[in-house]
Amino acid sequence: LLAETKAGVLQNLKVLISAGPTREYLDPVRFITNRSSGKMGYALATAALRAGAQVSLVSGPVNQPAPMGVEIVFVETAAEMYDAVLAQADHSDIYIGAAAVADYSPVAVEKTKIKKQAEQTSLILQKTKDILADVALLSNAPFTVGFAAETNDLEAYAQEKLYKKNVGMIAANWVGREQGGFDSEQNAFEIFWHNGRTSLPMTDKNQLAEQLISIIATKFNEKNR
Ligand code: CTP
Ligand code: CA
Repeated sequence: LLAETKAGVLQNLKVLISAGPTREYLDPVRFITNRSSGKMGYALATAALRAGAQVSLVSGPVNQPAPMGVEIVFVETAAEMYDAVLAQADHSDIYIGAAAVADYSPVAVEKTKIKKQAEQTSLILQKTKDILADVALLSNAPFTVGFAAETNDLEAYAQEKLYKKNVGMIAANWVGREQGGFDSEQNAFEIFWHNGRTSLPMTDKNQLAEQLISIIATKFNEKNR
């Protein structure tokens, strides 16, 4: 009965989710990337589907099975992810930015393999466009949920992201400790919205995704229906 009651919380809603890392190419054989398995984003897609939503996933390169019934667009670079997300965001009800988007990409992408020469070298990098912030800026923006993986000062950084990017909710987690996160089956979140917060303690990522989707649905439904 509980499962039945929960099953419809996102009925008739379109949920767009980004997942996985991006790759910023230096040359045909090298790229800069982020540590991300895509597991959380894919688990969120499955949970949103189970809650009755129509789910679209924009995915970086990952090793995850495609959830049945979810439409997936595969991308590699942050720029490709930006275009794929923005193409769908204005007709989505909810956007969940679970991707680990590269913050910088090389200014020049060499057409041929870079050969080693000098003892030292450096890269010139350009900031990528912030997908989450630009989705939140749309005139008919969906309800936006962002993530924040922090090694320190988690609450302050999460609150800063909430306000600076003007998103509806930030799910923050500790990284760089023995606390789940990137390569783990488990994770935990500190969740912040404009006038409240809650904690989701360490658990299996599938379980955590169900819990986070339920919180997102509650917030969305409070505001919109
Ligand atoms: N994000 C994004 N586009 C980017 C960078 C980040 O959409 N170019 C999104 C992520 O998907 C995530 C949120 O912004 O939902 C926060 O990502 P995070 O890396 O924690 O924050 P940044 O704003 O990039 O700041 P910093 O890396 O300096 O902490
Ligand atoms: Ca970042």
